[in-house]
Amino acid sequence: MTDTDAVALIGFGYWGPNLARNLQALAGDRWRYLVELSPERRERAARSHSHVEITDDLEKVLADDDVRAVVVATPAATHAPLARRVLEAGRNVLVEKPLALSTADAVELAAFAEERGLVLMVGHTFEFVPAVRRMKQLIDGGDIGDLLYLHSQRLNLGRIQSDINAFWSIGPHDVSIANFLVGRSPEWVSAGGARYLQGVEDVTFVTVGYPGGVLAHMHVSWLDPSKTRRTTVVGSRKMLVYDDMDADAKLKVFDKGADRLAEDAYGVWQYRLRDGEMYVPRLEMVEPLAAELRHFLECVRSGSRPCTDGWNGVQVVAVLEAVDASLAAGGAQVPVAGTRTRVPA
Ligand SMILES: NC(=O)c1ccc[n+]([C@@H]2O[C@H](COP(=O)([O-])OP(=O)(O)OC[C@H]3O[C@@H](n4cnc5c(N)ncnc54)[C@H](O)[C@@H]3O)[C@@H](O)[C@H]2O)c1
Repeated sequence: MTDTDAVALIGFGYWGPNLARNLQALAGDRWRYLVELSPERRERAARSHSHVEITDDLEKVLADDDVRAVVVATPAATHAPLARRVLEAGRNVLVEKPLALSTADAVELAAFAEERGLVLMVGHTFEFVPAVRRMKQLIDGGDIGDLLYLHSQRLNLGRIQSDINAFWSIGPHDVSIANFLVGRSPEWVSAGGARYLQGVEDVTFVTVGYPGGVLAHMHVSWLDPSKTRRTTVVGSRKMLVYDDMDADAKLKVFDKGADRLAEDAYGVWQYRLRDGEMYVPRLEMVEPLAAELRHFLECVRSGSRPCTDGWNGVQVVAVLEAVDASLAAGGAQVPVAGTRTRVPA
């Protein structure tokens, strides 16, 4: 990004203001436009961001040659058409999760951005969380031994939505964390869920299978008494717990496991349980959303591929789509499609 390049934000609902605050800090006056359809939300934005031109007309924004980057924070169903329009206009785009509502649309966007040499990044914010990055280092560095399985809980009372189910709404975070930590394409999904409030699942229990027998189980709900955001990673030598609600110890590393000793006279393996020390790694103090936006702006400037690029978005959407198919089939194991289309970075 040069001094004359401008940025636009689309959507100022629940999440948009967080992006706006960070854009203000990172891009300053180069954040030139906000596109928002709701007059009430436009009025609210005008009160806090007086230097920004606020409009309901995306075409007017795209007619400004200075606009080089666009951030999309609108409801999920609008992501694919808006991202497509921005890319067609030759602009780089950061799209909130999920990238699209179908794997076919997500693949189409990823391929189109690549063809046009434009940056397409997906807002998988948790891949910018210091605790998640540290877990990745501990896994890839061999500290935890073999990665066996992981499980996560993302629970709260609210925000209840009606356009997409709980897994499409908040599950993309857990899928992107699991894909990132395992580092391999998911193979299959098996999902259970229930619709207690309205026409979409409020609670889901999803298992994702990865190559080598690695499993990731995800419990996602917006109908739960306790706000919980936790990921547990079990390795053959160590175990990790990332608890986003724990301000003092977001990540704990446990020296726990079951060490194989020898076979007994009947050929049964004997194990010694190891219940060793726990430590809390020191983590960088950065706001993940600020890190995500900084990465996007840097990729636009340098033309490099974002770590959460369109193909990363495809892999998440492919899991979400397989979850829907499994829910419809009463929890049957469903292969994850589309992931073979990934173009290596
Ligand atoms: N990364 C995260 O942690 C995180 C957290 C919350 C939400 N999100 C994502 O942010 C996105 C927005 O979610 P939200 O909760 O703010 O939704 P929301 O419904 O509260 O707000 C969406 C806003 O977009 C506006 N809008 C809709 N269509 C538009 C269009 N075509 N042009 C301009 N404005 C339009 C609406 O008027 C509304 O104000 C979703 O994709 C969601 O998944 C991400």
